[in-house]
Amino acid sequence: MRVAIIGSGPAGFYAAEALLRRTDTVVHVDMFDRLPTPYGLVRGGVAPDHQSIKAVTRVYEKTAARPTFRFLGNVCLGSDVTVEELRRHYHQIVYAVGNEDDRRLGIPCEGITRCTPATVFIGWYNGHPDYRHAQIDLSVPRVAVVGNGNVAIDTARILLRTPAELEKTDVAAHALEALRNSRVREVFILGRRGPEQASFTPPELKEFGEMEDVDTVVAPEELAGCVIPEAAGNTQQEKNLKILQSYAAQPPGGKAKKLHLRFRVSPTEIIAGADGKVAGLVLEKNRIEVQPDGTVSARGTGETEVLEVGMVLPAIGFAAKRIDGVPFDEKAKVIANQDGRVIDPASRAVIANEYVVGWARTGPQGLIGSHKGASAHVVGHMVADGAGIEARELPEREAIDSLLRGRGVQIVSFDDWKRLDDVEVARGERRGAPRDKIADVGTMLEVLAQR
Ligand SMILES: Cc1cc2nc3c(=O)[nH]c(=O)nc-3n(C[C@H](O)[C@H](O)[C@H](O)COP(=O)(O)OP(=O)(O)OC[C@H]3O[C@@H](n4cnc5c(N)ncnc54)[C@H](O)[C@@H]3O)c2cc1C
Ligand SMILES: NC(=O)c1ccc[n+]([C@@H]2O[C@H](COP(=O)([O-])OP(=O)(O)OC[C@H]3O[C@@H](n4cnc5c(N)ncnc54)[C@H](OP(=O)(O)O)[C@@H]3O)[C@@H](O)[C@H]2O)c1
Repeated sequence: MRVAIIGSGPAGFYAAEALLRRTDTVVHVDMFDRLPTPYGLVRGGVAPDHQSIKAVTRVYEKTAARPTFRFLGNVCLGSDVTVEELRRHYHQIVYAVGNEDDRRLGIPCEGITRCTPATVFIGWYNGHPDYRHAQIDLSVPRVAVVGNGNVAIDTARILLRTPAELEKTDVAAHALEALRNSRVREVFILGRRGPEQASFTPPELKEFGEMEDVDTVVAPEELAGCVIPEAAGNTQQEKNLKILQSYAAQPPGGKAKKLHLRFRVSPTEIIAGADGKVAGLVLEKNRIEVQPDGTVSARGTGETEVLEVGMVLPAIGFAAKRIDGVPFDEKAKVIANQDGRVIDPASRAVIANEYVVGWARTGPQGLIGSHKGASAHVVGHMVADGAGIEARELPEREAIDSLLRGRGVQIVSFDDWKRLDDVEVARGERRGAPRDKIADVGTMLEVLAQR
Protein backbone atom coordinates (compact mmCIF):
# COMPACT_ATOMS: atom_id res chain seq x y z
CA MET A 1 0.00 0.00 0.00
CA ARG A 2 1.42 3.41 -0.93
CA VAL A 3 -0.04 6.63 0.48
CA ALA A 4 0.79 10.27 -0.24
CA ILE A 5 0.25 12.73 2.60
CA ILE A 6 0.32 16.37 1.56
CA GLY A 7 1.38 18.57 4.46
CA SER A 8 3.72 17.83 7.37
CA GLY A 9 1.90 19.60 10.21
CA PRO A 10 0.47 17.77 13.23
CA ALA A 11 -2.52 16.36 11.32
CA GLY A 12 -0.29 14.93 8.56
CA PHE A 13 2.15 13.39 11.04
CA TYR A 14 -0.59 11.82 13.16
CA ALA A 15 -2.18 10.36 10.02
CA ALA A 16 1.23 8.96 8.99
CA GLU A 17 1.73 7.37 12.39
CA ALA A 18 -1.72 5.75 12.31
CA LEU A 19 -1.06 4.40 8.81
CA LEU A 20 2.42 3.12 9.63
CA ARG A 21 1.10 1.29 12.69
CA ARG A 22 -1.21 -0.84 10.58
CA THR A 23 -0.49 -4.51 11.06
CA ASP A 24 -2.77 -5.88 8.31
CA THR A 25 -0.64 -4.50 5.47
CA VAL A 26 2.68 -2.71 4.98
CA VAL A 27 2.08 0.95 4.24
CA HIS A 28 4.65 3.14 2.52
CA VAL A 29 4.05 6.80 3.30
CA ASP A 30 5.46 9.66 1.21
CA MET A 31 4.86 12.94 3.03
CA PHE A 32 5.13 16.08 0.88
CA ASP A 33 5.48 19.65 2.06
CA ARG A 34 5.81 22.82 0.03
CA LEU A 35 8.50 24.00 2.47
CA PRO A 36 11.89 22.32 2.91
CA THR A 37 11.10 22.21 6.65
CA PRO A 38 8.49 19.96 8.29
CA TYR A 39 5.95 20.50 11.13
CA GLY A 40 3.58 23.16 9.72
CA LEU A 41 2.32 25.57 12.37
CA VAL A 42 4.38 23.92 15.10
CA ARG A 43 7.33 25.64 13.44
CA GLY A 44 5.55 28.55 11.74
CA GLY A 45 2.67 29.36 14.11
CA VAL A 46 3.31 28.34 17.72
CA ALA A 47 4.73 31.37 19.50
CA PRO A 48 8.51 31.50 19.97
CA ASP A 49 8.09 32.14 23.71
CA HIS A 50 6.16 28.84 24.02
CA GLN A 51 9.10 26.51 23.33
CA SER A 52 7.79 23.62 25.40
CA ILE A 53 4.87 23.16 22.96
CA LYS A 54 7.36 22.58 20.16
CA ALA A 55 8.76 19.50 21.93
CA VAL A 56 5.90 17.59 20.25
CA THR A 57 8.14 17.40 17.16
CA ARG A 58 10.10 14.63 18.93
CA VAL A 59 7.03 12.44 18.48
CA TYR A 60 6.95 13.30 14.76
CA GLU A 61 10.68 12.51 14.47
CA LYS A 62 9.91 8.98 15.66
CA THR A 63 7.31 8.63 12.91
CA ALA A 64 9.78 9.95 10.36
CA ALA A 65 12.35 7.37 11.49
CA ARG A 66 10.07 4.47 10.53
CA PRO A 67 11.61 2.56 7.60
CA THR A 68 8.66 2.93 5.21
CA PHE A 69 8.31 6.70 5.72
CA ARG A 70 9.79 9.32 3.38
CA PHE A 71 9.68 13.13 3.59
CA LEU A 72 9.67 15.00 0.27
CA GLY A 73 10.06 18.62 1.27
CA ASN A 74 10.15 21.63 -1.04
CA VAL A 75 7.41 20.07 -3.21
CA CYS A 76 4.19 22.03 -3.64
CA LEU A 77 0.97 20.30 -4.64
CA GLY A 78 -0.61 22.42 -7.35
CA SER A 79 2.61 23.83 -8.80
CA ASP A 80 5.37 21.16 -8.60
CA VAL A 81 3.07 18.16 -8.82
CA THR A 82 -0.60 17.74 -9.75
CA VAL A 83 -3.39 15.78 -8.10
CA GLU A 84 -3.63 13.62 -11.27
CA GLU A 85 0.03 12.65 -10.93
CA LEU A 86 -0.44 11.72 -7.28
CA ARG A 87 -3.42 9.56 -8.25
CA ARG A 88 -1.17 7.64 -10.65
CA HIS A 89 1.61 7.10 -8.11
CA TYR A 90 -0.35 6.34 -4.92
CA HIS A 91 -3.21 4.10 -3.79
CA GLN A 92 -4.58 6.73 -1.43
CA ILE A 93 -4.02 10.48 -0.88
CA VAL A 94 -4.39 12.43 2.37
CA TYR A 95 -4.61 16.22 2.21
CA ALA A 96 -3.20 17.78 5.41
CA VAL A 97 -2.55 21.25 4.05
CA GLY A 98 -3.94 23.29 6.95
CA ASN A 99 -5.51 26.74 6.64
CA GLU A 100 -2.99 29.06 5.02
CA ASP A 101 -5.33 31.93 4.08
CA ASP A 102 -6.65 34.52 6.48
CA ARG A 103 -10.20 35.74 6.87
CA ARG A 104 -11.00 39.38 6.17
CA LEU A 105 -12.98 41.92 8.17
CA GLY A 106 -14.58 43.24 4.99
CA ILE A 107 -14.50 46.87 6.13
CA PRO A 108 -13.35 50.01 4.26
CA CYS A 109 -9.58 50.60 3.99
CA GLU A 110 -8.68 47.08 5.14
CA GLY A 111 -5.93 46.85 2.52
CA ILE A 112 -3.94 49.94 3.56
CA THR A 113 -0.41 49.97 4.96
CA ARG A 114 -0.15 48.87 8.61
CA CYS A 115 -3.41 46.91 8.46
CA THR A 116 -1.80 43.49 8.45
CA PRO A 117 -3.52 40.12 8.94
CA ALA A 118 -2.16 38.28 11.98
CA THR A 119 -1.13 35.46 9.58
CA VAL A 120 1.49 37.78 8.11
CA PHE A 121 2.72 39.09 11.46
CA ILE A 122 2.93 35.57 12.93
CA GLY A 123 4.68 34.15 9.85
CA TRP A 124 7.11 37.08 9.95
CA TYR A 125 8.17 36.65 13.59
CA ASN A 126 8.32 32.87 13.17
CA GLY A 127 10.65 33.00 10.16
CA HIS A 128 8.16 31.50 7.67
CA PRO A 129 9.74 32.00 4.22
CA ASP A 130 6.47 33.38 2.77
CA TYR A 131 6.63 36.35 5.15
CA ARG A 132 10.38 36.92 5.42
CA HIS A 133 10.02 40.22 3.56
CA ALA A 134 6.70 41.39 5.03
CA GLN A 135 6.72 45.09 5.84
CA ILE A 136 6.05 45.27 9.59
CA ASP A 137 6.33 48.88 10.70
CA LEU A 138 6.61 49.05 14.48
CA SER A 139 7.19 52.81 14.62
CA VAL A 140 3.71 53.47 16.02
CA PRO A 141 2.90 53.58 19.76
CA ARG A 142 -0.64 52.09 19.67
CA VAL A 143 -1.84 48.92 17.96
CA ALA A 144 -5.27 47.22 17.74
CA VAL A 145 -5.52 43.43 17.55
CA VAL A 146 -9.00 42.32 16.44
CA GLY A 147 -10.34 38.99 17.73
CA ASN A 148 -10.72 37.22 21.05
CA GLY A 149 -8.89 33.95 20.39
CA ASN A 150 -5.44 32.64 21.26
CA VAL A 151 -3.97 33.99 18.04
CA ALA A 152 -4.92 37.51 19.17
CA ILE A 153 -3.21 36.77 22.49
CA ASP A 154 -0.02 35.48 20.82
CA THR A 155 0.07 38.54 18.57
CA ALA A 156 -0.32 41.00 21.45
CA ARG A 157 2.15 39.16 23.66
CA ILE A 158 4.93 39.14 21.08
CA LEU A 159 4.32 42.85 20.36
CA LEU A 160 4.74 43.65 24.06
CA ARG A 161 7.59 41.35 25.15
CA THR A 162 10.89 43.00 26.07
CA PRO A 163 13.92 42.25 23.86
CA ALA A 164 15.42 40.31 26.79
CA GLU A 165 12.33 38.08 26.93
CA LEU A 166 12.50 37.47 23.18
CA GLU A 167 16.25 36.93 22.79
CA LYS A 168 16.20 33.52 24.43
CA THR A 169 13.44 32.27 22.10
CA ASP A 170 13.62 31.13 18.47
CA VAL A 171 11.95 34.31 17.20
CA ALA A 172 13.33 35.03 13.70
CA ALA A 173 16.47 37.20 13.76
CA HIS A 174 14.94 39.85 11.44
CA ALA A 175 11.89 40.11 13.73
CA LEU A 176 14.02 40.27 16.88
CA GLU A 177 15.91 43.19 15.40
CA ALA A 178 12.67 45.03 14.49
CA LEU A 179 11.05 44.25 17.86
CA ARG A 180 14.14 45.57 19.67
CA ASN A 181 13.53 48.93 18.00
CA SER A 182 9.74 48.79 18.35
CA ARG A 183 7.95 51.91 19.59
CA VAL A 184 4.75 50.00 20.39
CA ARG A 185 3.66 50.80 23.95
CA GLU A 186 -0.08 50.04 24.00
CA VAL A 187 -2.01 47.16 22.48
CA PHE A 188 -5.81 46.88 22.43
CA ILE A 189 -7.37 43.43 22.02
CA LEU A 190 -10.88 43.90 20.68
CA GLY A 191 -13.67 41.32 21.01
CA ARG A 192 -16.94 41.72 19.15
CA ARG A 193 -18.82 39.72 21.80
CA GLY A 194 -18.53 39.71 25.60
CA PRO A 195 -15.88 38.30 27.95
CA GLU A 196 -18.03 35.18 28.43
CA GLN A 197 -17.79 34.40 24.72
CA ALA A 198 -14.02 34.91 24.35
CA SER A 199 -12.24 31.78 23.10
CA PHE A 200 -8.97 32.50 24.92
CA THR A 201 -7.65 29.57 26.93
CA PRO A 202 -7.07 30.51 30.60
CA PRO A 203 -3.29 29.84 30.79
CA GLU A 204 -2.77 32.14 27.78
CA LEU A 205 -4.97 34.88 29.29
CA LYS A 206 -3.19 34.55 32.64
CA GLU A 207 0.23 34.88 31.02
CA PHE A 208 -0.36 38.60 30.37
CA GLY A 209 -0.16 39.10 34.13
CA GLU A 210 3.29 37.51 34.20
CA MET A 211 4.97 39.67 31.58
CA GLU A 212 8.04 41.69 32.46
CA ASP A 213 7.04 45.16 31.35
CA VAL A 214 3.27 45.05 30.72
CA ASP A 215 0.29 46.13 32.80
CA THR A 216 -2.96 44.46 31.73
CA VAL A 217 -5.89 46.83 31.87
CA VAL A 218 -9.54 45.79 32.01
CA ALA A 219 -12.01 48.58 32.79
CA PRO A 220 -14.49 47.29 35.41
CA GLU A 221 -17.45 48.32 33.18
CA GLU A 222 -16.23 45.80 30.56
CA LEU A 223 -17.20 43.05 33.00
CA ALA A 224 -20.49 44.59 34.16
CA GLY A 225 -23.23 41.98 34.10
CA CYS A 226 -20.80 39.04 33.83
CA VAL A 227 -21.61 36.60 36.58
CA ILE A 228 -19.38 33.78 37.78
CA PRO A 229 -21.64 30.97 39.02
CA GLU A 230 -21.51 30.35 42.79
CA ALA A 231 -20.23 26.78 42.54
CA ALA A 232 -16.52 27.23 41.91
CA GLY A 233 -16.63 25.98 38.39
CA ASN A 234 -13.84 24.89 36.18
CA THR A 235 -14.99 25.79 32.73
CA GLN A 236 -12.83 27.88 30.43
CA GLN A 237 -15.44 30.64 30.61
CA GLU A 238 -15.41 30.78 34.41
CA LYS A 239 -11.63 30.67 34.60
CA ASN A 240 -11.34 33.46 32.03
CA LEU A 241 -13.83 35.63 33.93
CA LYS A 242 -11.90 35.19 37.17
CA ILE A 243 -8.64 36.16 35.49
CA LEU A 244 -10.31 39.19 33.86
CA GLN A 245 -11.78 40.23 37.22
CA SER A 246 -8.34 40.04 38.80
CA TYR A 247 -7.01 42.36 36.07
CA ALA A 248 -9.95 44.75 36.60
CA ALA A 249 -9.29 44.84 40.36
CA GLN A 250 -5.60 45.76 39.95
CA PRO A 251 -4.56 49.31 40.84
CA PRO A 252 -2.93 51.16 37.90
CA GLY A 253 0.60 49.83 37.48
CA GLY A 254 3.79 51.62 36.53
CA LYS A 255 5.08 49.37 33.76
CA ALA A 256 6.11 50.90 30.44
CA LYS A 257 3.61 49.03 28.27
CA LYS A 258 -0.15 48.52 28.53
CA LEU A 259 -2.40 45.80 27.24
CA HIS A 260 -6.08 46.75 27.10
CA LEU A 261 -8.81 44.13 26.78
CA ARG A 262 -12.01 45.57 25.28
CA PHE A 263 -15.26 43.73 24.60
CA ARG A 264 -18.50 44.20 22.64
CA VAL A 265 -16.97 46.36 19.91
CA SER A 266 -16.71 45.72 16.15
CA PRO A 267 -14.39 47.55 13.76
CA THR A 268 -16.45 49.20 11.02
CA GLU A 269 -13.82 51.26 9.20
CA ILE A 270 -10.07 51.78 9.20
CA ILE A 271 -9.08 55.43 9.10
CA ALA A 272 -6.22 56.35 6.78
CA GLY A 273 -3.91 59.22 7.73
CA ALA A 274 -2.51 61.80 5.29
CA ASP A 275 0.33 59.35 4.50
CA GLY A 276 -2.21 56.68 3.50
CA LYS A 277 -1.31 54.48 6.47
CA VAL A 278 -3.51 53.42 9.39
CA ALA A 279 -4.29 56.35 11.72
CA GLY A 280 -7.32 55.01 13.57
CA LEU A 281 -10.10 52.48 13.78
CA VAL A 282 -13.81 53.19 13.96
CA LEU A 283 -15.49 50.89 16.48
CA GLU A 284 -19.20 50.28 16.80
CA LYS A 285 -20.48 49.28 20.23
CA ASN A 286 -22.41 46.01 20.25
CA ARG A 287 -25.12 44.55 22.37
CA ILE A 288 -25.23 40.83 22.97
CA GLU A 289 -28.25 38.86 21.83
CA VAL A 290 -29.16 35.28 22.62
CA GLN A 291 -30.78 33.62 19.61
CA PRO A 292 -33.66 31.12 19.91
CA ASP A 293 -31.20 28.29 19.27
CA GLY A 294 -29.07 29.44 22.23
CA THR A 295 -26.23 30.95 20.21
CA VAL A 296 -24.98 34.30 21.38
CA SER A 297 -24.37 36.99 18.79
CA ALA A 298 -23.23 40.62 18.67
CA ARG A 299 -25.49 43.28 17.16
CA GLY A 300 -24.31 46.81 16.41
CA THR A 301 -25.97 49.59 18.38
CA GLY A 302 -25.09 52.38 15.93
CA GLU A 303 -22.99 54.08 18.59
CA THR A 304 -19.40 54.54 17.42
CA GLU A 305 -16.04 55.74 18.72
CA VAL A 306 -12.64 56.25 17.14
CA LEU A 307 -9.70 54.36 18.59
CA GLU A 308 -6.47 56.13 17.71
CA VAL A 309 -4.08 53.40 16.64
CA GLY A 310 -1.36 53.33 14.01
CA MET A 311 -1.62 49.64 13.22
CA VAL A 312 -4.43 47.07 12.99
CA LEU A 313 -3.81 43.32 13.14
CA PRO A 314 -6.97 41.29 12.46
CA ALA A 315 -6.67 37.86 14.17
CA ILE A 316 -10.12 36.62 13.21
CA GLY A 317 -9.47 33.15 11.87
CA PHE A 318 -8.10 31.34 8.84
CA ALA A 319 -9.29 29.55 5.73
CA ALA A 320 -7.93 26.75 3.57
CA LYS A 321 -6.17 27.80 0.38
CA ARG A 322 -7.67 26.51 -2.84
CA ILE A 323 -5.42 24.00 -4.61
CA ASP A 324 -5.86 23.15 -8.30
CA GLY A 325 -7.70 19.86 -8.68
CA VAL A 326 -8.69 19.56 -4.99
CA PRO A 327 -12.45 19.99 -4.34
CA PHE A 328 -13.16 23.10 -2.26
CA ASP A 329 -16.10 23.91 -0.01
CA GLU A 330 -16.75 27.61 -0.69
CA LYS A 331 -18.91 28.14 2.35
CA ALA A 332 -16.82 26.44 5.01
CA LYS A 333 -13.52 27.39 3.28
CA VAL A 334 -12.11 23.89 3.70
CA ILE A 335 -11.45 20.95 1.36
CA ALA A 336 -14.92 19.58 0.54
CA ASN A 337 -15.41 16.49 2.68
CA GLN A 338 -17.76 14.33 4.63
CA ASP A 339 -16.15 13.25 7.88
CA GLY A 340 -12.72 13.29 6.21
CA ARG A 341 -13.67 11.62 2.92
CA VAL A 342 -13.15 14.10 0.08
CA ILE A 343 -16.36 14.78 -1.85
CA ASP A 344 -17.48 16.63 -4.95
CA PRO A 345 -19.02 19.81 -3.47
CA ALA A 346 -21.80 19.92 -6.10
CA SER A 347 -23.01 16.31 -6.14
CA ARG A 348 -21.63 15.44 -2.67
CA ALA A 349 -20.43 12.14 -4.16
CA VAL A 350 -17.34 10.67 -2.47
CA ILE A 351 -14.12 10.91 -4.48
CA ALA A 352 -12.57 7.49 -4.02
CA ASN A 353 -9.20 7.15 -2.24
CA GLU A 354 -8.87 10.80 -1.24
CA TYR A 355 -9.05 12.01 2.36
CA VAL A 356 -8.51 15.17 4.36
CA VAL A 357 -7.31 15.70 7.92
CA GLY A 358 -6.59 18.60 10.28
CA TRP A 359 -7.58 22.19 9.73
CA ALA A 360 -8.05 21.56 5.99
CA ARG A 361 -10.93 19.27 7.04
CA THR A 362 -12.50 21.20 9.93
CA GLY A 363 -11.39 24.80 9.67
CA PRO A 364 -9.14 26.53 12.19
CA GLN A 365 -10.21 25.00 15.46
CA GLY A 366 -8.39 22.79 17.90
CA LEU A 367 -5.03 22.40 19.55
CA ILE A 368 -2.17 20.25 18.30
CA GLY A 369 -3.12 17.24 20.44
CA SER A 370 -6.67 17.19 19.07
CA HIS A 371 -5.37 16.04 15.68
CA LYS A 372 -4.09 12.73 17.01
CA GLY A 373 -7.51 11.16 17.46
CA ALA A 374 -9.04 13.09 14.56
CA SER A 375 -6.42 11.91 12.03
CA ALA A 376 -6.64 8.33 13.34
CA HIS A 377 -10.42 8.50 12.81
CA VAL A 378 -9.94 9.38 9.13
CA VAL A 379 -7.31 6.64 8.77
CA GLY A 380 -10.05 4.31 10.03
CA HIS A 381 -12.08 5.27 6.93
CA MET A 382 -9.03 4.66 4.74
CA VAL A 383 -8.70 1.15 6.12
CA ALA A 384 -12.40 0.42 5.77
CA ASP A 385 -12.57 1.78 2.18
CA GLY A 386 -9.26 0.39 0.93
CA ALA A 387 -9.60 -3.37 1.22
CA GLY A 388 -7.59 -4.95 -1.60
CA ILE A 389 -6.66 -1.59 -3.11
CA GLU A 390 -2.94 -2.38 -2.94
CA ALA A 391 -3.47 -4.87 -5.75
CA ARG A 392 -3.53 -1.92 -8.19
CA GLU A 393 -0.09 -1.76 -9.76
CA LEU A 394 1.77 1.51 -9.40
CA PRO A 395 4.95 2.89 -10.98
CA GLU A 396 8.16 2.31 -8.96
CA ARG A 397 8.18 4.29 -5.70
CA GLU A 398 11.10 6.49 -6.86
CA ALA A 399 9.34 7.34 -10.16
CA ILE A 400 7.75 10.35 -8.46
CA ASP A 401 11.22 11.61 -7.49
CA SER A 402 12.41 11.33 -11.11
CA LEU A 403 9.32 13.17 -12.33
CA LEU A 404 9.95 16.02 -9.87
CA ARG A 405 13.70 16.19 -10.51
CA GLY A 406 12.97 16.29 -14.23
CA ARG A 407 11.10 19.51 -13.49
CA GLY A 408 14.04 20.98 -11.60
CA VAL A 409 12.51 20.46 -8.16
CA GLN A 410 15.14 19.99 -5.43
CA ILE A 411 13.53 17.45 -3.11
CA VAL A 412 14.48 17.88 0.56
CA SER A 413 14.58 14.57 2.47
CA PHE A 414 14.14 14.14 6.22
CA ASP A 415 17.93 13.65 6.55
CA ASP A 416 18.39 16.95 4.70
CA TRP A 417 15.99 18.59 7.16
CA LYS A 418 18.00 17.16 10.07
CA ARG A 419 21.09 18.86 8.63
CA LEU A 420 19.20 22.17 8.42
CA ASP A 421 18.00 21.58 11.96
CA ASP A 422 21.60 21.12 13.18
CA VAL A 423 22.70 24.31 11.41
CA GLU A 424 19.80 26.31 12.94
CA VAL A 425 20.48 24.97 16.43
CA ALA A 426 24.20 25.79 16.13
CA ARG A 427 23.35 29.34 14.94
CA GLY A 428 20.95 29.70 17.87
CA GLU A 429 23.58 28.71 20.43
CA ARG A 430 25.52 31.83 19.50
CA ARG A 431 22.69 34.01 20.82
CA GLY A 432 21.64 31.68 23.64
CA ALA A 433 18.46 30.65 21.82
CA PRO A 434 17.09 27.19 21.01
CA ARG A 435 17.64 27.90 17.30
CA ASP A 436 18.13 30.71 14.81
CA LYS A 437 15.87 29.88 11.92
CA ILE A 438 16.87 30.12 8.29
CA ALA A 439 13.98 32.12 6.91
CA ASP A 440 14.34 31.75 3.19
CA VAL A 441 14.16 28.73 0.95
CA GLY A 442 17.10 29.79 -1.25
CA THR A 443 19.48 29.85 1.72
CA MET A 444 18.16 26.49 2.97
CA LEU A 445 18.88 24.92 -0.41
CA GLU A 446 22.34 26.55 -0.55
CA VAL A 447 23.17 25.12 2.89
CA LEU A 448 22.11 21.68 1.69
CA ALA A 449 24.19 22.02 -1.49
CA GLN A 450 27.34 22.34 0.69
CA ARG A 451 27.70 18.60 1.22
C1 LIG B 1 -0.47 31.33 15.45
C2 LIG B 1 -0.87 29.96 15.95
C3 LIG B 1 -0.37 29.50 17.14
C4 LIG B 1 -0.77 28.26 17.62
N1 LIG B 1 -0.28 27.84 18.83
C5 LIG B 1 -0.67 26.66 19.33
C6 LIG B 1 -0.19 26.21 20.60
O1 LIG B 1 0.58 26.91 21.27
N2 LIG B 1 -0.62 25.01 21.06
C7 LIG B 1 -1.49 24.22 20.35
O2 LIG B 1 -1.83 23.13 20.80
N3 LIG B 1 -1.97 24.63 19.14
C8 LIG B 1 -1.57 25.81 18.62
N4 LIG B 1 -2.05 26.23 17.42
C9 LIG B 1 -2.95 25.33 16.66
C10 LIG B 1 -2.14 24.27 15.86
O3 LIG B 1 -1.01 24.89 15.31
C11 LIG B 1 -3.04 23.65 14.79
O4 LIG B 1 -4.08 22.95 15.45
C12 LIG B 1 -2.29 22.65 13.89
O5 LIG B 1 -1.03 23.11 13.48
C13 LIG B 1 -3.10 22.34 12.62
O6 LIG B 1 -2.45 21.27 11.99
P1 LIG B 1 -2.56 20.94 10.43
O7 LIG B 1 -1.63 19.79 10.23
O8 LIG B 1 -3.97 20.81 10.04
O9 LIG B 1 -2.01 22.24 9.67
P2 LIG B 1 -0.60 22.95 9.63
O10 LIG B 1 0.11 22.83 10.91
O11 LIG B 1 -0.86 24.31 9.11
O12 LIG B 1 0.23 22.13 8.51
C14 LIG B 1 -0.07 22.24 7.14
C15 LIG B 1 1.16 21.90 6.32
O13 LIG B 1 0.78 21.78 4.94
C16 LIG B 1 1.78 22.35 4.10
N5 LIG B 1 1.14 22.71 2.83
C17 LIG B 1 0.16 23.63 2.63
N6 LIG B 1 -0.19 23.68 1.33
C18 LIG B 1 0.60 22.77 0.68
C19 LIG B 1 0.71 22.37 -0.69
N7 LIG B 1 -0.06 22.91 -1.64
N8 LIG B 1 1.63 21.44 -1.00
C20 LIG B 1 2.43 20.88 -0.03
N9 LIG B 1 2.35 21.24 1.28
C21 LIG B 1 1.45 22.16 1.63
C22 LIG B 1 2.26 23.55 4.92
O14 LIG B 1 3.53 24.00 4.50
C23 LIG B 1 2.24 22.99 6.35
O15 LIG B 1 3.50 22.41 6.67
C24 LIG B 1 -1.67 27.47 16.89
C25 LIG B 1 -2.16 27.94 15.67
C26 LIG B 1 -1.77 29.18 15.21
C27 LIG B 1 -2.32 29.69 13.91
N1 LIG C 1 -1.35 29.07 22.77
C1 LIG C 1 -2.22 28.28 22.18
O1 LIG C 1 -2.58 27.26 22.69
C2 LIG C 1 -2.77 28.70 20.85
C3 LIG C 1 -2.26 29.81 20.20
C4 LIG C 1 -2.85 30.21 18.99
C5 LIG C 1 -3.88 29.46 18.46
N2 LIG C 1 -4.33 28.38 19.10
C6 LIG C 1 -5.50 27.64 18.60
O2 LIG C 1 -5.67 27.80 17.21
C7 LIG C 1 -7.07 27.89 16.90
C8 LIG C 1 -7.34 29.16 16.11
O3 LIG C 1 -7.18 30.30 16.96
P1 LIG C 1 -7.82 31.71 16.58
O4 LIG C 1 -7.50 32.66 17.65
O5 LIG C 1 -7.48 32.05 15.17
O6 LIG C 1 -9.36 31.34 16.49
P2 LIG C 1 -10.65 31.56 17.42
O7 LIG C 1 -10.41 31.06 18.79
O8 LIG C 1 -11.76 31.00 16.65
O9 LIG C 1 -10.80 33.15 17.53
C9 LIG C 1 -11.18 33.94 16.44
C10 LIG C 1 -11.72 35.24 16.99
O10 LIG C 1 -12.02 36.12 15.89
C11 LIG C 1 -13.29 36.70 16.13
N3 LIG C 1 -13.85 37.14 14.86
C12 LIG C 1 -14.16 36.38 13.78
N4 LIG C 1 -14.65 37.16 12.80
C13 LIG C 1 -14.67 38.43 13.27
C14 LIG C 1 -15.07 39.67 12.73
N5 LIG C 1 -15.54 39.77 11.49
N6 LIG C 1 -14.96 40.78 13.50
C15 LIG C 1 -14.47 40.71 14.76
N7 LIG C 1 -14.07 39.55 15.33
C16 LIG C 1 -14.16 38.42 14.59
C17 LIG C 1 -14.09 35.61 16.79
O11 LIG C 1 -15.21 36.17 17.43
P3 LIG C 1 -16.54 35.29 17.66
O12 LIG C 1 -16.23 34.35 18.76
O13 LIG C 1 -17.55 36.32 18.01
O14 LIG C 1 -16.82 34.60 16.36
C18 LIG C 1 -13.04 35.07 17.78
O15 LIG C 1 -12.99 35.87 18.94
C19 LIG C 1 -7.82 27.81 18.21
O16 LIG C 1 -8.20 26.49 18.45
C20 LIG C 1 -6.76 28.24 19.21
O17 LIG C 1 -6.98 27.76 20.52
C21 LIG C 1 -3.81 27.98 20.29
